[in-house]
Amino acid sequence: MNSSSFPPSSGPRVADLTFVRAEEGDCDALALLARGAHSHPWSAQQYRDSLGSGHRCWVLRAPEVEDERRSSLVACCVTSRLFDEIEVLDVAVAPEWQNRGVGTQLLQRVLAQCPDDIARVLLEVRASNRSARALYHKLGFSEDGRRKNYYPKSDGTREDALLMSLIL
Ligand SMILES: CC(C)(COP(=O)(O)OP(=O)(O)OC[C@H]1O[C@@H](n2cnc3c(N)ncnc32)[C@H](O)[C@@H]1OP(=O)(O)O)[C@@H](O)C(=O)NCCC(=O)NCCS
Repeated sequence: MNSSSFPPSSGPRVADLTFVRAEEGDCDALALLARGAHSHPWSAQQYRDSLGSGHRCWVLRAPEVEDERRSSLVACCVTSRLFDEIEVLDVAVAPEWQNRGVGTQLLQRVLAQCPDDIARVLLEVRASNRSARALYHKLGFSEDGRRKNYYPKSDGTREDALLMSLIL
């Protein structure tokens, strides 16, 4: 079992998760979450630098559990704002919580708190990431373009990034 979260069957349900802004003290837990979810995860220092540069990091947090080795962070989404656009820089759901509606709930809440003067939300996703593409399509994002050979793969080759956007 991955130690970044605890089994949903014996712990909190999706309805128990709270949506809050991450703080600097969460960066180690964010890196743990990222290591479980991504092939090329951000480090704790990258999360620190991101927060320090003004990016926002939203998380879904489970109620505290007695076992302190287990993080209460279930999912995160990092965004940056430039003029009237928001870019989604990172989305991760802990493996044990995936395909249970957590990513949908997280992104719906991130989109709902976008200020009224935001016109567009942008993101990039690996072409091979079917679950993420399905999630973004479900939320209304459309595919606008492609960056050839943008992402490194674990086998040493590269793959395309799809550029997606949502007009608010
Ligand atoms: C991609 C990710 C964020 C989705 O989060 P999630 O909580 O699993 O997604 P949800 O349960 O809310 O599902 C949303 C939609 O995604 C699709 N989906 C989810 N898991 C899927 C899977 N294993 N295969 C295919 N589609 C899937 C479905 O269309 C689903 O909608 P539906 O249940 O109404 O049919 C999550 O799997 C994740 O963290 N993956 C690893 C990191 C990553 O890829 N991040 C995104 C980088 S751009």
